[in-house]
Amino acid sequence: MKYRHRFHAGNFADVHKHVTLVALLQAMQRKDKGLFYFETHAGRGWYSGHGDSQPGSEIREGYARLAGSTPQSDAIRQFLDTESAACAALTPDKPQPRAGSAYAGSPLLAATLLREQDRGLCCELLAPECRALQQSLHAWPRMRTLCADGLQSLRSQFPPRERRALLLIDPPYEDPLAELDTALSAALEALTRLAGTVVALWYPIKDDRLLAPWLRRCAARLRAPTLQCELWRHPRDSRVALNGSGLLIINAPWQLDTQMQQWLPELGTLLGIDAQGGTAVRWLVQESGAAQ
Ligand SMILES: C[S@@+](CC[C@H](N)C(=O)[O-])C[C@H]1O[C@@H](n2cnc3c(N)ncnc32)[C@H](O)[C@@H]1O
Repeated sequence: MKYRHRFHAGNFADVHKHVTLVALLQAMQRKDKGLFYFETHAGRGWYSGHGDSQPGSEIREGYARLAGSTPQSDAIRQFLDTESAACAALTPDKPQPRAGSAYAGSPLLAATLLREQDRGLCCELLAPECRALQQSLHAWPRMRTLCADGLQSLRSQFPPRERRALLLIDPPYEDPLAELDTALSAALEALTRLAGTVVALWYPIKDDRLLAPWLRRCAARLRAPTLQCELWRHPRDSRVALNGSGLLIINAPWQLDTQMQQWLPELGTLLGIDAQGGTAVRWLVQESGAAQ
């Protein structure tokens, strides 16, 4: 596996995924009952601005554009606050790094938000990345790390004792065709074991000819209400590395769709998306299990 997330940490797709993740967790935490957060593909957790975890230049077109902005939307402000809190918790004795030069990934964002009654588990396959993740998560005992295949580990973790779960599936997509189907199978596996699992499944928008049949397969196989949230910078079939970022949100919490319709266009504007790009929120599968 060649993929190293540090080259992409904090890019526009990461920001899209992480604003959504923070909004999802906070929506689920409107209920007091504890929840289990499980992440199949965790990365190293923190990208520090120096050493071998330094984020690549893609952060300039992503998080660096937002840091220091004053967004109207609560969801974007809450993401920025959670980013700052995660970075501050990691370096309590040091001056905070320049905005946009360090970045907390999904395990740290989730760990920052977990309440006393919640717990989390993050899987990372690559040993050096996993060791770095364990170090990063040291400050958050409620979030544990497993150095193992996240897709296989899911079977031993579901259903969790809390009977409430948020599952993030975020593969590297080095082999997009195979990994899209594996990600869908993992989501279905979790739903079989705990029907109410809220799943956030990230996918790259690179080529609609590949994506459209996969989305049709998702719509045919998923029975739970599924929201689709997309943000793209380039025409959806252009030959740049990554045109856009998409998330399927299965069992989306109440009103997430209407809230997203407000903050997603603002996020697009802050990220500098112009007429070549766009944003969209739609139901792929409605409440009744009917595909759109
Ligand atoms: C896109 S990155 C994760 C980024 C992270 N979720 C975030 O948003 O900050 C994907 C990670 O999955 C790891 N990985 C690849 N295959 C895996 C597997 N089968 N199980 C667990 N981790 C895997 C890679 O080493 C890489 O660190």
